[in-house]
Amino acid sequence: MYIMKKLKLGDRCFSPYISSSEIGEAVGKMAAEIDGDYADSGSLLFIGVLSGAYMLAADLVRKVTVPCDITFIKVSSYEGLSSRGEVSVKLPLSLDIEGRDVIIVDEIVETGLTVDYLFDYLAPLKPRSVAVASLLFKKQMYKGRHEIKYAGITMKENLFVVGYGLDYDEKGRTLEDIYILDE
Ligand code: IMP
Ligand code: MG
Repeated sequence: MYIMKKLKLGDRCFSPYISSSEIGEAVGKMAAEIDGDYADSGSLLFIGVLSGAYMLAADLVRKVTVPCDITFIKVSSYEGLSSRGEVSVKLPLSLDIEGRDVIIVDEIVETGLTVDYLFDYLAPLKPRSVAVASLLFKKQMYKGRHEIKYAGITMKENLFVVGYGLDYDEKGRTLEDIYILDE
């Protein structure tokens, strides 16, 4: 047992927000739902959205018990504390997804820009189905066109968070807990 403390990254201060054990619980629930929904799939493929989703993807696939595979895509839209408003692919998919049940794994969904972009990107590749799993969901900010089917934790606050894959200008990604920006 340890106590989460305040944190300084660059010029910003962050406070404890979600502990690693709470994250573990949320990921366990997401995995259980996915197990139920994809019991008969036989073709489940997770697509982790790099860089942020690397920790969630690793934890989620180890808790899911139905047969599945994993691959990654790298996109970026964020710089510092806010979105640039356009998404670009930094590392393309390297796997054929035709006929597969795809779950996009993202660590946080905010405006939905990234998820909408990925749905449009994946559609011509003819997956059988596409769903989204995200640890965090900033619901009040969401303007996307698609359902966030597996949302681990819905945030009441619209503040910036770091840790568990989430970064502030590439800092804070390796932390096992999640911290929130001090106002
Ligand atoms: P969206 O496209 O607006 O939904 O934002 C999605 C992406 O922006 C996420 O996958 C993150 O990479 C990044 N992002 C959004 N909110 C935060 C945050 O609070 N901290 C760090 N990254 C964030
Ligand atoms: Mg991301």
